[in-house]
Amino acid sequence: MSKNFLIDFPVLNQIINGKRLVYLDNAATTQKPLSVTKAVQDYYNLYNANPHRGAYYLSVKATEIYENSREAVREFIGAKKPGEVIFTKNATEAFNLLAYSYGMNFINPGDEIVISIAEHHSNLVPWQQVAKAKGAVLKYMYTDEEGIIPEEEIKSKIGNKTKLVSVTQISNVFGTVNPIDKLVERAHEVGAVIIVDGSQSVPHMKVNVAELDVDFLVFSGHKLLAPMGVGVLYGKEELLNAMPPFLFGGDMIEYVWEQEAEFAQLPYKFEGGTQNVGGALGLMEAIKYLDNVGMDNIKVMEKGLVSYALMKMSELPYITIYGSKDVQKKSGVIAFNVQDVHPHDVASILDSEGVAIRAGHHCAHPLMNYLGVNATCRVSFYFYNSVEDVDIFIESLKSVRKWLGYGS
Ligand SMILES: Cc1ncc(COP(=O)(O)O)c(C=O)c1O
Repeated sequence: MSKNFLIDFPVLNQIINGKRLVYLDNAATTQKPLSVTKAVQDYYNLYNANPHRGAYYLSVKATEIYENSREAVREFIGAKKPGEVIFTKNATEAFNLLAYSYGMNFINPGDEIVISIAEHHSNLVPWQQVAKAKGAVLKYMYTDEEGIIPEEEIKSKIGNKTKLVSVTQISNVFGTVNPIDKLVERAHEVGAVIIVDGSQSVPHMKVNVAELDVDFLVFSGHKLLAPMGVGVLYGKEELLNAMPPFLFGGDMIEYVWEQEAEFAQLPYKFEGGTQNVGGALGLMEAIKYLDNVGMDNIKVMEKGLVSYALMKMSELPYITIYGSKDVQKKSGVIAFNVQDVHPHDVASILDSEGVAIRAGHHCAHPLMNYLGVNATCRVSFYFYNSVEDVDIFIESLKSVRKWLGYGS
């Protein structure tokens, strides 16, 4: 790619701790291009008003911006209707919406909710709450040594009692891609609904809800160049129509009497209160940027970076990598540990070299227990990273054990 991404992402173009910043924590959040930050700034400088509420120019303009953003998301994920796209605060809020609105109303005692051991807490803790409140059973599909849900687990764990399956398309720890087609097929075979956590997939590959035939898809805008504070819940119209609202109040009603209220149509039924118009606009601009680079190009660029990083890391005998090392089975995320060094120390030493990586449990305690570790380090790439970034990361990784007094 000839494009110089450093011009578009000023945050990447700076010196941290005396070194050029190498930002490798993109699974946590991505940086924002100037086109996104400028659009949000222009919105607040020129158009800010409460949408859906006023007949005056600015409010109409804010409404137009908000609904255009919804349309951009609809097209990006291949939803049939704009009403199937609900704006939320983030992926976590989308999961809570599903847990409270779908889970608490459609899950009954003895029903089974099936998730995987590799879920982020945001797709795990809400289901624990639903299972407890409704007397349902929370079952786990365990990943194989590559960090992928195997077919036998899908067949054996999703059965006649399963009413809901909720799985991540790409693990935020292993970066491995789960077989969503097989999971959807099995869930629908037994009459269950399936929710897909697209937080780590939608930013990195083309995800089309109609082609996948998923019932719900959840993701956060901030992991795909958009500002923090805006997320998306996609749901099939007939399911969303059957679900009660999650947040009650202004904007989500048709009419209110003293004792009763008639709720608004989709998507407004699920968007109570003043919405994040600037965030939605930022998400639309982010989608434009991604479309411009091309989702297929993004996938190829990231595979190039991850395969180079894996090759270089495998030359270091003191590195343990978790999950598949096959680039065809994973995105740009690598979880690893350095022998005898706590992940937090690794991250701190790398930080002193200007390299930003993540260390910890990655909001996946049950997965850490399953792997038999307390924590891991994690590097995660995005298309704006370069081979030079990988080289700097590897060089600083080589210095970690020396720093702590080990021979090599
Ligand atoms: C796979 C996955 N799901 C859900 C989330 C939650 O996203 P948010 O914190 O934006 O709600 C994350 C965030 O790291 C994630 O990686």
